[in-house]
Amino acid sequence: MLKNRSLIEPLDLSQDEMNDLFTMAEKIEAAPMEWHDRQRGKLLATLFFEPSTRTRLSFEAAMQRLGGSCLGFAESGSSSAVKGECLADTIRIVAGYADIIVMRNPKEGAALVASRYSEVPVINAGDGGHHHPTQTLTDLLTIKRLRGKIGDMTVGFCGDLRFGRTVHSLVEALARYSGIRMIFISPQELTVPDYLKSRISRDTENPGYIETDSLDKVLDQLDILYMTRVQKERFFNEEDYIRLKDSYILTPEKMKMAKNDMMILHPLPRVNEISLEVDSDPRAMYFKQARLGMFVRMALLSSILE
Ligand code: NCD
Repeated sequence: MLKNRSLIEPLDLSQDEMNDLFTMAEKIEAAPMEWHDRQRGKLLATLFFEPSTRTRLSFEAAMQRLGGSCLGFAESGSSSAVKGECLADTIRIVAGYADIIVMRNPKEGAALVASRYSEVPVINAGDGGHHHPTQTLTDLLTIKRLRGKIGDMTVGFCGDLRFGRTVHSLVEALARYSGIRMIFISPQELTVPDYLKSRISRDTENPGYIETDSLDKVLDQLDILYMTRVQKERFFNEEDYIRLKDSYILTPEKMKMAKNDMMILHPLPRVNEISLEVDSDPRAMYFKQARLGMFVRMALLSSILE
């Protein structure tokens, strides 16, 4: 289906291709054992130049649940990057060992560069503050599974909308569905980049977006609240981070203002922005979301390697 294709940005996939992946992910989730040796003999390389828990481990779990194997590194300090090897060389070498590469890198555009030097498909697992397409697949599958469809809803994005790559990818992907109203909730310094806003307003099917710095003012309008952490590693100075890091904290008290069926999503890791007591609220979906990420990655790997 996606034979030998790389995935760098969410819009590399058409809506139909995404829907096919969601259907496949649901089939896998329903009967995982039927997929347990579909990728036997195939090798996935995970090259993580930045920290990760869910993305790397869910990709590795996905590959192993398909019967394939994994190799790679979880920090750039254990690769030849510390000796000064350039990305292009690392990629050319790894492409000679593995059948597919999943890479996370702190530089925006790194995945695109990698795909140009690689003879095997490259999946972007996060390039700086730019994109994170497989988190978007995870987020959309979660919405589809839990609401039945993607569309006709108000989605609030809250937190660091400037540096949060998962937000950038999800906003672009959601803008293609109809009836999506977006509310961007962030401090003035962390608003959504202008290039993204111009893309949404070009889309005539959608009522568009509004921006605010107050979660309280809009919480009762939301069908989905997408919380994010303030991206410490992308700040130029610690003072700004400390000033902004606790801008929004979702508590059980605040949740009283939300709709009874509002869904709370979070790409995780959570730092302080959702209090632990909210976890037992039936509207908290972020752990379920993380698990669905593994099934959609199984679908993606199968589809590219088939
Ligand atoms: C996100 C990321 O790395 O961009 N994590 C993830 O992959 N689920 C979110 C984050 O780090 O805040």
